[in-house]
Amino acid sequence: MSLPKINPTTTKAWQSLREHFSEIKNQKMTDLFANDTKRADTFSIEWDDFFVDFSKNRITNKTLDLLIKLAKETKLQEAIESQFSGEIINETEGRAVLHTALRAPKNTTVLVNGVNIIPEIYAVKKQIEIFTNRVVKGDLTGYSGKPFTDVVNIGIGGSDLGPAMVVDALQYYSNHLTTHFVSNVDGDHVSEIVKKLNPETTLFVIVSKTFTTQETLSNANTIRDWFLKSAPKEAIAKHFVAVSTNVSSVQEFGIHADNIFPMWDWVGGRFSLWSAVGLSISLSIGFDNFDKLLQGAHKMDAHFKTTPFNENIPVVLALISIWYNNFFNAETEAVIPYTQYLNQFATYLQQGIMESNGKSIDRNGEPVSYQTGTVIWGEPGTNSQHAFFQLIHQGTKLIPADFIGFVNSLHGNQAHQDKLISNFIAQTEALMNGKAEAEVLEEYSRQGKKLETIQSLVPFKVFEGNNPTNTIFIKQLTPESLGKLIALYEHKIFVQGIIWNIFSYDQFGVELGKQLATNILQEIKNNTFANHDTSTAKLLKYYLKK
Ligand code: F6P
Repeated sequence: MSLPKINPTTTKAWQSLREHFSEIKNQKMTDLFANDTKRADTFSIEWDDFFVDFSKNRITNKTLDLLIKLAKETKLQEAIESQFSGEIINETEGRAVLHTALRAPKNTTVLVNGVNIIPEIYAVKKQIEIFTNRVVKGDLTGYSGKPFTDVVNIGIGGSDLGPAMVVDALQYYSNHLTTHFVSNVDGDHVSEIVKKLNPETTLFVIVSKTFTTQETLSNANTIRDWFLKSAPKEAIAKHFVAVSTNVSSVQEFGIHADNIFPMWDWVGGRFSLWSAVGLSISLSIGFDNFDKLLQGAHKMDAHFKTTPFNENIPVVLALISIWYNNFFNAETEAVIPYTQYLNQFATYLQQGIMESNGKSIDRNGEPVSYQTGTVIWGEPGTNSQHAFFQLIHQGTKLIPADFIGFVNSLHGNQAHQDKLISNFIAQTEALMNGKAEAEVLEEYSRQGKKLETIQSLVPFKVFEGNNPTNTIFIKQLTPESLGKLIALYEHKIFVQGIIWNIFSYDQFGVELGKQLATNILQEIKNNTFANHDTSTAKLLKYYLKK
């Protein structure tokens, strides 16, 4: 069965949402709270170690009911079933989409072309476990017999962002190995990394689903050349491993068959950290913690698959985001984690969200007449409060934001934690309440300011407020809770793609630039070029003059 192909704007729910929007678009959240003492209970979900408060949104019971009707009319439940059961829902590439199978229990059956893929997944997990344990314990050594001290992940996009984000996020749980990431084809990246490395004690993990990606192969070749300056050729077998679907190209590169970790075409690059693409995660935090990350994601999968939409965290957050994107015309969404450990979370989500849902052709092959994927951005609080929060508070744009925080810190310094969490909670309150003229007047007169000064400053000191936020409050940052959090956003992406009637799992938009870069590279090598617009031609001329 293929995915439903329903234009969301033709549904009854969409029409009703339009009418409802014109009724409540100016409604103040503060009034909604004042009129309903149970609002915080109605619009929050407590699940496992997650508390999700979505009450500070410009929604009413009717909004949520209509959004859920929209999900039903666009056949979300059927689409969820199709995804989890291995149907070919990535229709433009003819593939199933089964990152959820990577974290499913051993006794599950998931069929792809009639074959259960779970045993294969568990065989690779075993390979990851054995390899991780041998490296961490020092049983596997470098060519001179010394144990490994450093791991370098060479990959880009989904073969970099997920592992890099998780290794950084879970550094509290890390062992003695230092993990580095090389992704950019800019030679500065690789040259700065190798400066820190000793070839005798460094393990290189080349991660590329296709093993054709220019950046990854260039960096892998540069690193191999650097390595061979001090190591014998046979040492490559001890120091280089690869994760790929393209076994023959990996072997051509010189990697021993035993050092290849397979992956599959039914795992999309940006959803692949759960596969052997996450090898650097396993090496950094140990296999047991890597497995806990997967178990956490599986718990979120089960929640997503079986929970009614009104209690379903990914569904509710996806619907609220559609409400702002398609009715309020909000163009961006911020993600603000109140933990430095999630420093790379927004960057990671940018690929997941924008590569998946940055589409303008619907599943019928027709241009869409409505907005799809949101622009996603963010930085950890409290740093971001001193950077871009001014614009959210008093700028002209509506920016819905997800606030992510953890009740218990890992560092154990309660004084820091209390300060962090007071900021975390205060900001969502401030964004909603704003500051009325009367409050400003009262505050200034209390400070004994002159009436003239007060009056001239009032317009600048007033905050409109009514800025929506979701608060995702989690007990503690652990491999398991991080797994749940990542899976939550993966499912949010899926829900939105289904409702917007687009294919979320291809990424043809990144191909054109790659093709043109290949042509231009050839022109640069030949020192000659033709058939470009005058701007491009002038840039090339400027470069070739050096
Ligand atoms: O950016 C395009 C893309 O195809 C991503 O989807 C993918 O994660 C990345 O390139 C890397 O691809 P590969 O793992 O095949 O090297």
